[in-house]
Amino acid sequence: MAKKALADPIGGTGVTWRALAGEALAAREFAFVPHSGFKVGAAVLTPSSRVFRGCNVESAALPLTNCAERVAIQKAVSEGERSILAVAVAGDAAYLRRTEASVGATERGDEGPLDRFVTPCGACRQVIFEFGPEAPVLLVDLDGGWRLTSARELLPGGFRLEGFEG
Ligand code: THU
Repeated sequence: MAKKALADPIGGTGVTWRALAGEALAAREFAFVPHSGFKVGAAVLTPSSRVFRGCNVESAALPLTNCAERVAIQKAVSEGERSILAVAVAGDAAYLRRTEASVGATERGDEGPLDRFVTPCGACRQVIFEFGPEAPVLLVDLDGGWRLTSARELLPGGFRLEGFEG
């Protein structure tokens, strides 16, 4: 991705990558995380140029926790959307991975190790892939670093029912 990429609009929408990243960061502030203390925010853009935010919502019954990405996608689908054009995920990589190599995910682009960033969990990769197999996914760190990846890079050979968009 070129230098000015975050200023570019996504697809045929008027929403820029920077704006979508901002939505994910704003959503993160609403995270309900009494158990992990780890806040994640997500924003999904749909073909009708609508943006849906999500944050992680933890449960005292721990497996019932919902990740930010799936909350955002489920909000979109429950409001009538059927596919997603792009996703942004915001989290604090330095908090998550306390290794010297990971502190401050300062890279900006579409190369480099994904694990410098907060990446979607396996369950979220599946759901992102089902609603947006071609969707680019922007991973956003709190220090301004970002890494552009995609549903396909996150879930190679992913399972999806074709033609069941109904
Ligand atoms: N979490 C997300 O919301 N999205 C991710 O991409 C990774 C993990 C949440 C789940 C849980 O509330 C917390 O982060 C710690 O695992």
